Amino acid sequence: MSVNPAKQTELESLLAISSGLNSEQGNERFKAIMHQLLSDLCQTIRKFDITDEEFWLAVNYLNELGERKEAALLAAGLGLEHYLDMRADEKEAAAGLDVGTPRTIEGPLYVAGAPLSKQFARMDDGSEAGEPMWLYGQVTDLQGQPVAGAIVDIWHANTLGGYSFFDQSQSEYHLRRRVETGADGRYAVRSIVPYGYGCPPDGPTQKLLNQLGRHGNRPAHVHFFVSAPGYKHLTTQINLNGDAYLWDDFAFATREELIADPVKITDDKLAKERDIHQPHTEVSFNFTLVESAQAGEENRIKRARVME
Ligand SMILES: [Fe+2]
Repeated sequence: MSVNPAKQTELESLLAISSGLNSEQGNERFKAIMHQLLSDLCQTIRKFDITDEEFWLAVNYLNELGERKEAALLAAGLGLEHYLDMRADEKEAAAGLDVGTPRTIEGPLYVAGAPLSKQFARMDDGSEAGEPMWLYGQVTDLQGQPVAGAIVDIWHANTLGGYSFFDQSQSEYHLRRRVETGADGRYAVRSIVPYGYGCPPDGPTQKLLNQLGRHGNRPAHVHFFVSAPGYKHLTTQINLNGDAYLWDDFAFATREELIADPVKITDDKLAKERDIHQPHTEVSFNFTLVESAQAGEENRIKRARVME
């Protein structure tokens, strides 16, 4: 794209050149997006009369964000990851497509390659004195028929709200498992009841949230990828009902259809059948998958992930 320099203001000329609009090289879509971003940024600088000190504070903040690897956490905290879900929902609704279990954000703390087993897994290593949790459910299609061979990839925080790998004090793949459903579409795991996550208090995400007068907490939740051949990949989470942050999630992931009611089990016989042998919490959640119509829909979106 070429631009006539005689018809441009000094700022327009600067932005056209800096975003490569005068060049035959580069990527046209990327150039157009950069041009819009830079124009919006300059407009913001002008509107708020941003000082040099404020500008360099912001530039340094980007360095801090990168050093602490918190850019994806900030994207969730600013609601941008949720905005992607809103757009995906809108597109499905506009196209009149069937919707199964609603999607919600992946967040930045997934680790690929968790141990895989059939129908059942124990997720915790027994090192924490947390409340045992029996989490189970069924994967079905829109007609309610069981989906056999679905992979239910589950990850959640420990009793301090920390995730293994990112919290090096936990064992490898602690509270991360993949379970393949049987012919009945069912999955079950034994784990411990997760606690809510909070942003690292000394990190750049929390620093920014403080300036907005916002907290960086999430309600107790469990993440899922649910996938099966012939079905659209599902990225979702369940939130545990009763948590103080249920409707005040800093990452905007809570959805009405994704709230699970924890049930206290005191029945000795049931506890014995589950090999738990003590009172525990039961959480039940079923998933409905939608048949895929296009190539690629069976797979999760590409993004940088640990071990992937
Ligand atoms: Fe999480």
